Amino acid sequence: MGLNWEFTGGETELDPDELNGLLIPLIATRADLDEYEQANIQKARIGLARRRITPNLLLSETFIKRLHKMMYADVWKWAGTFRKTEKNIGVDPVHIAVDLRQLLDDARYQLEHDTFSPDEFAIRLKHRLVSIHCFVNGNGRHARLFADLLIKSLGAEPFTWGAFSEMPDVREIYFTALRKADRGDVKPMMVFARS
Ligand SMILES: Nc1ncnc2c1ncn2[C@@H]1O[C@H](COP(=O)(O)OP(=O)(O)O)[C@@H](O)[C@H]1O
Ligand SMILES: [Mg+2]
Repeated sequence: MGLNWEFTGGETELDPDELNGLLIPLIATRADLDEYEQANIQKARIGLARRRITPNLLLSETFIKRLHKMMYADVWKWAGTFRKTEKNIGVDPVHIAVDLRQLLDDARYQLEHDTFSPDEFAIRLKHRLVSIHCFVNGNGRHARLFADLLIKSLGAEPFTWGAFSEMPDVREIYFTALRKADRGDVKPMMVFARS
């Protein structure tokens, strides 16, 4: 299994055991991996587009896991299961289930009480979700797709996540927004998500 895994920062590193969870032996480079994951995610998007998804359905551990599984099950054996190892990003793995439960409880409360605008609600949730880092890999894309489904279920347009940004370094803007969100300021991420 010769995957040439390049760690570039701002992402989770995989240990050898987790890399052994690769279901497609032909994947040899990071670019191949990105391509296979992208195809799997596209398949998930098509499947999801046909369904009517309510906020209540989304706000459950079952859905969070199912979404990850839909996005990555063609590529990774551990798709849809919580990580068991510590990462450079995210909570101690023993706290994942409890922190996620707290996040989902808070979200249901905020929704019921209209605590935030739909955009702020979805972006705050997305940030907390990716900060828990439930899975070995794919957490960023999973949290963004989750936020898209959530905002759509609230009757708004999906986010664009910098796709229409005219700034040269979109990735850098995203990471700056992440760091601001880590300190409690979610506005830059809200702007980025609509750019
Ligand atoms: N400081 C941070 N705070 C919160 N989330 C972060 C931080 N740094 C990176 N992330 C999130 O983690 C993601 C990378 O995790 P990873 O599991 O590799 O996801 P993916 O494979 O989809 O990129 C980034 O896309 C980003 O959303
Ligand atoms: Mg990654």
